[in-house]
Amino acid sequence: MRRAIFPGSFDPPTNGHLDIIRRSLPLFDEIIIAVLNNPEKKPMFTVEERCGIIREILPGVENGKCRLLIDSFSGLTADFARRKSATAIVRGIRAISDYEYELRMALMNRRLEPTIETVFLMAAEEYSYVSSNLMKQVFILGGRVEGLIPATVEARMREKLNG
Ligand code: PNS
Repeated sequence: MRRAIFPGSFDPPTNGHLDIIRRSLPLFDEIIIAVLNNPEKKPMFTVEERCGIIREILPGVENGKCRLLIDSFSGLTADFARRKSATAIVRGIRAISDYEYELRMALMNRRLEPTIETVFLMAAEEYSYVSSNLMKQVFILGGRVEGLIPATVEARMREKLNG
């Protein structure tokens, strides 16, 4: 049983996240999409809302034999991965600028939990500039983000902004 976690803030999930999930499907039997509950950050969506949005968009992913689960966690990613008996942490790399941050996290996570490998997958070129923060910023300022985030996410952001 090859179980991985795909940790992140997912505030909100983007098509870049879905691209990484799709790419990791053939590699694992089970992937837990793990939403970080970070009280230090001021997210647009609560952890429950983010999990709900992911639950709404996952049926659009042709998951084949791989089981996709959604969970949230607080504290260390390495601890969560160990608690879930995962053997891998999946992370997406969009551009070389992601590498340094990701390398530091991977090495620290390896030190914390030497049995768990970080697996890096390269995002599709068309999502190489897509980040949750950029999507929020552009959307809030009235720019077009279709094709970069799922339609559900756009609808939830519109609801959020309109109160
Ligand atoms: O989507 P993000 O914000 O790039 O994801 C970052 C995340 C959640 C993977 C990272 O911040 C994280 O692992 N946070 C949990 C706390 C932790 O384990 N910190 C040490 C990482 S070496």
